[in-house]
Amino acid sequence: MSRNYDLYQYKGCNFITSIHHIEKLEEMYHCEMRDSDVVAITYPKSGTVWMQQILNLIYSDGDAAAVQSKSTMEHVPWMEIPPSNFQTRPSPRLCVSHLPQHLVPAGLKKKNGKVIYVMRNPKDVVVSLYHFQNYITVLSTPSSFEDFLEKFLEGKVIFSSWFDHIHDWYTHRDEFNILFISYEELKQDLRTSVQKLCDFLGKKLDDEKLDTVVKQSTFKNMKMNPLANYENVENKNLSGAFLRKGIIGDWKNLFTVAQSEKFDQVFQERMQDIPLKFIWDCK
Ligand code: A3P
Repeated sequence: MSRNYDLYQYKGCNFITSIHHIEKLEEMYHCEMRDSDVVAITYPKSGTVWMQQILNLIYSDGDAAAVQSKSTMEHVPWMEIPPSNFQTRPSPRLCVSHLPQHLVPAGLKKKNGKVIYVMRNPKDVVVSLYHFQNYITVLSTPSSFEDFLEKFLEGKVIFSSWFDHIHDWYTHRDEFNILFISYEELKQDLRTSVQKLCDFLGKKLDDEKLDTVVKQSTFKNMKMNPLANYENVENKNLSGAFLRKGIIGDWKNLFTVAQSEKFDQVFQERMQDIPLKFIWDCK
């Protein structure tokens, strides 16, 4: 185990020193999984909070009150962050996690429980993460985007390499009961995406309920709802937000042409055996 000022490495993955504890990670690995469990997996900044909101609403049968009473974090807690009470929750247990596939509960590989892997084009991920690290105080403030981009490409960021994360989850997909869905799909057609999620989860919602899930999960409505937008989280600066812009293609506002070309080259090399398609720009 190696440590630096804000991150430490455990079994090949970078965790946040002040948030993640090895005891919790080990406890979760051995946690018994149930068929009804649902775990949404994301690399950071790929739509985790969004999926928390959607799952909360789907499992509340499209009842808007569900997102106006308790925070999404209480309804759909983090698996790896204490005081996650995941193990003692009644079924169906919903949760989110950034864990790489080799650190999630072993039972998930016996196909006990369902996994939703939310992916996002990595140029928007790195831009979102860059702004996030300027906002949140438990992580180091990047000296520049150039420097941060280098670190991202080398995997020297929280949860390590984006490329390894998606690569490992994709190549091990047959071991899990898993659905891959993208941030961009959600963004471009939220209703169809929610229906796709319902089909995977075996949840039947009528049109009216589906409409409520969609309405309560739009960026605009989540941004206005302190229970959905992580407003109560501590350790943050005054300016910034968890729900920042919520668009496809914001990377174009920060990447130089040279940075984009270098990124494309690394992407080609690292993703050549992964047929997943990404949407880099909104049409
Ligand atoms: P931006 O920083 O590009 O705005 P995570 O929850 O994994 O940390 O991801 C955060 C990103 O998801 C942020 O991206 C945030 O704005 C975006 N997001 C959250 N809810 C969203 C929604 N309902 N619609 C679109 N984007 C959303």
